Amino acid sequence: MANTILVGAQWGDEGKGKIIDVLTEQADLVVRTQGGNNAGHTVYIGKTKYVLHLIPSGILRPGKKCVIANGVVIDPVSLVGEIDGLLKVKVKVDGNLFISETAHLVLPYHRELDEQREILKGKHKIGTTKRGIGPAYGDKAARTGLRVIDLINPDRFEQLLKIRIKENNEVLKAFGAKPLSFNKVHAAYRAAGDRLKPFVTNTVVMLDHANRHGARILFEGAQGTFLDIDHGTYPFVTSSNTTAGGACTGSGVAPHWMDRVVGVMKAYTTRVGEGPLPTENAEIADMLHAMGREFGATTGRARRCGWFDSVATRHATMVNGIDEIAVTNLDGLDTVETIKACIGYRVGSTRYEYVPNDIEAFSKCTPVYAEFPGWLTPTHEVRRWKDLPVKARSYLKAIAELSGAKLAIASVGPSREQTIFL
Ligand code: GDP
Ligand code: IMO
Ligand code: MG
Repeated sequence: MANTILVGAQWGDEGKGKIIDVLTEQADLVVRTQGGNNAGHTVYIGKTKYVLHLIPSGILRPGKKCVIANGVVIDPVSLVGEIDGLLKVKVKVDGNLFISETAHLVLPYHRELDEQREILKGKHKIGTTKRGIGPAYGDKAARTGLRVIDLINPDRFEQLLKIRIKENNEVLKAFGAKPLSFNKVHAAYRAAGDRLKPFVTNTVVMLDHANRHGARILFEGAQGTFLDIDHGTYPFVTSSNTTAGGACTGSGVAPHWMDRVVGVMKAYTTRVGEGPLPTENAEIADMLHAMGREFGATTGRARRCGWFDSVATRHATMVNGIDEIAVTNLDGLDTVETIKACIGYRVGSTRYEYVPNDIEAFSKCTPVYAEFPGWLTPTHEVRRWKDLPVKARSYLKAIAELSGAKLAIASVGPSREQTIFL
């Protein structure tokens, strides 16, 4: 396998964790380059379910090296919890996990501020995961952030934390929220720092060394294209570059080392949190929720659901340079008689073939649909392309063509085996 960037081509939760797990078989390293524990990547191995938030999904494949790179924001206490959770189920972490010295930290005041800002926004809230992601990236850009390298230097950490807590307590007080105790935060973070220290390294140099020795690297995207801080449906986005370029800046691996981009998309659309979703459809949502599907892996919130939106996925192909498409959750449409896919947007008499930048225009977009006959046959046991119902193959071919990239994988269930390679 060549160096591969895997991105979500919709609004997150496309099934990236499952596809990463499948592709990791042919990789030597798996690297997370952005986001934080707002992500929830689900992997099933047999009947056992794992949900990864900060640690790359590749950790579940023995011997694969996993890197949390510089572009990620790390909540150290949460990361220790995740490591402990893996150790409890006998997943080997020591020797396989590497954490960047320069990744920024999520601190308790980030989480508090995330929550307070959402409350203040009222009905205009973003619907964040309340993990402190926005304020942590905000501090990074404002050059007031603390980094992993500070956390593992006790004297420096104490000094910097004191200043930051003092300032942020003033802000929290202005919100009417409870100020934080320096001693409590310091003790919890210092303990986490001691636990994480053995994993901390210069991951830029490590990845350069790996590339020079012909390693195959898989870059595990978090969130999705339309949650990208620059290319998403701002302000209803996350605070990092979720698109393919983020894999370079978030890892220090230069663009010329990258060989291909895989875009993961569901056979329909979901979104969790606020913001426009032109193809949203209550019937599809009710159907999927009744099957026990489409509840958030991080917050447990019911995901909003709708028809496949090829205007969005075509846009995703453009901004990410998607070469190959992996379509997941095909089986979710097994019982639908007539399947719709959005092929354009309309606002009054104006037709859009792309995602408009103006959020107000985007929220007014009504979809123009193409219809496809449903296959009305269970697909979860299918393992080969030629065994898929003809109508399912036609639908997959059509949505790949509309999205403008080559169909490479179709997924018919959450487990490794339920994967069809083309
Ligand atoms: P991620 O954030 O992109 O990794 O996606 P999530 O794990 O948050 O959500 C995707 C959900 O779909 C998870 O529950 C997966 O187990 C599940 N999943 C992935 N691919 C398939 C599939 O082809 N069929 C079914 N039924 N479930 C799938
Ligand atoms: P994975 O990697 C789906 C959404 C939140 C909210 C917005 C901003 O599992 O696909 P944030 O907490 O990041 O400030 O929230 O982004 N969001 C996700 N939605 N999947 C994710 O990650 C998400 N991470 C953040 O719901 O709308
Ligand atoms: Mg998820």
